[in-house]
Amino acid sequence: MSKLRALVITGAFALAAASAVAQEIPEPAKQDWSFDGAFGTYDTASLQRGFEIYRMVCSNCHSMNLLSYHDLSGIGYSDAEIKAIAASVQVPDEPDDQGEIKDRPGRPSDHFKAPFANTQAAKAANNGALPPDQSLLVRGRKYGPDYIYALMTGYGDPPADVTVPDGLYYNVAFPGNKIAMPPPLSDDAVQYSDGTKATLQQEAHDVATFLTWAADPTLNMRHRIGARVIIFLVVFSGVMYGVKRQVWSKIEH
Ligand code: HEC
Repeated sequence: MSKLRALVITGAFALAAASAVAQEIPEPAKQDWSFDGAFGTYDTASLQRGFEIYRMVCSNCHSMNLLSYHDLSGIGYSDAEIKAIAASVQVPDEPDDQGEIKDRPGRPSDHFKAPFANTQAAKAANNGALPPDQSLLVRGRKYGPDYIYALMTGYGDPPADVTVPDGLYYNVAFPGNKIAMPPPLSDDAVQYSDGTKATLQQEAHDVATFLTWAADPTLNMRHRIGARVIIFLVVFSGVMYGVKRQVWSKIEH
């Protein structure tokens, strides 16, 4: 192999490695989550606040296709509340006798209504960038909820030596630091129905909690069963120890 060729190949690899590094998610700060650890569970109030954020803010651009309205029973909403939430959107009905499709109010069995009819429309409305579906987003990104939190709170002015093209926004948490999503949250971006003060940090925490639940709705059940199994094993070990002593006490030693 000629020296030049070796040099070119090495250079190409170095470049590829450099761009791979640039695309990596910067390690976000670790937040405190109620669902952390082997026995942690979701905080229902935070889940509902997170849903309020999704409903009022994120759902203007992001779909959540894997969720239906009745799934909201999993975060503590009653049947009547779910009916009302579903009915607040209009979805296409079955074709009528004339073959015409009219809109009807949503039902609990409907999937979450998507903001755009298709991918092309979603991109066209967002400067060519596609807002990803949020159903499994937390699982699809390294660092999960910590990344979501960091992204929501990571907007700011770029350093002097960085230029951000029109239509992009500077965000320290995003790989490459330039994101096509305008800052979705800020202090008082929503008014929480439970009266919690809507600071940017609170909103980021709640929406990350909600998106984690969406991607892993059975965590509470798993962690509760896990805790019960451990308690059972501890009690059972105690009983068996007693039995062992009882049995051996009759044998001289
Ligand atoms: C005005 C439209 C808009 C709104 C509102 C919006 N987003 Fe986005 N979002 C986008 C677009 C566009 C992208 C793609 C960005 C890119 O690829 O540069 C995106 C990307 C993302 C990503 C993925 C980043 C990555 O690693 O690829 C996350 C996470 C996200 N949004 C979360 C949210 C949350 C949470 C909300 C609500 C609080 C929200 N977004 C509200 C438009 C929006």
